[in-house]
Amino acid sequence: MTPLLEITKLTVSYDGTTPALHEANLTVAAGERVGLIGESGSGKSTLALAIAGLLPRTARVSGSIRWQQTDTVPRKGTDIGYVFQDPAGSLDPVMRIGAQLAEILRVLRGKQSQLDVPELLARVGFPDPEIIAARYPHQLSGGQKQRVAIACALAGQPRLLIADEATSALDTIVQAGIVRLLSRLTADTGSSLLFITHDLALASTLADRLVVMRNGRILEAGTPREIIEHPRHPYVASLVASHLALEGPTLLETQREPAQ
Ligand SMILES: Nc1ncnc2c1ncn2[C@@H]1O[C@H](COP(=O)(O)OP(=O)(O)OP(=O)(O)O)[C@@H](O)[C@H]1O
Ligand SMILES: [Mg+2]
Repeated sequence: MTPLLEITKLTVSYDGTTPALHEANLTVAAGERVGLIGESGSGKSTLALAIAGLLPRTARVSGSIRWQQTDTVPRKGTDIGYVFQDPAGSLDPVMRIGAQLAEILRVLRGKQSQLDVPELLARVGFPDPEIIAARYPHQLSGGQKQRVAIACALAGQPRLLIADEATSALDTIVQAGIVRLLSRLTADTGSSLLFITHDLALASTLADRLVVMRNGRILEAGTPREIIEHPRHPYVASLVASHLALEGPTLLETQREPAQ
């Protein structure tokens, strides 16, 4: 498969001394869905923000990020769409949803978006886009807000969608709906997905490949089956064991959603 993104020895330090990310190597293929998992503080967001060029200016970064086999870095919005954990934080509370999406599309016009507001809202699963477009963010549920945040990220038709804990604040049923939506959207458009979570079970329902992080390092990468059935690193083995203790031996069999 053609690599879309190739990261080599990426190291990030916020304070100039202790690295929050240490020599990370990661390749994401075109159309691939990668689940990035790890406990809080393991460096998942740091890696994602570095890819998207959203780190604070003061952060020290070394290593390389290659985009589509060139020395260019990915462009925000059109190459990469980013969905944050807190959808309310990425929406303007005093602007109607339709106006916010129209503004994003206006900024992107001339770049590559051929979408319009109703189309974007329909794409993220709203059967009545006009009703949603007329609402303010506080008039939507958490799951609806997250769908709107995904619509914002999709406006530039990015090749890579990064969802950083995009479902963590939602209950499990709404969470499953968002995961199905991300799965369908990436399958439909052929874009790649970097899905960040601390939840191994959730990541394995969606991802072609799992990447496990701890203490700023990538410990292991493999298909969900490889990671769950034959973890190599002791920490990954303990992570799988603790999930199996909670979930029973069904982590792969019953939870994997069809890629539709
Ligand atoms: N802007 C920042 N300034 C200084 N330190 C930071 C900053 N952002 C993150 N860190 C530190 O970098 C380390 C990695 O943080 P990061 O946010 O990447 O973890 P994470 O895996 O995304 O955690 P979580 O699951 O809680 O979101 C942590 O020790 C964190 O305190
Ligand atoms: Mg994070």
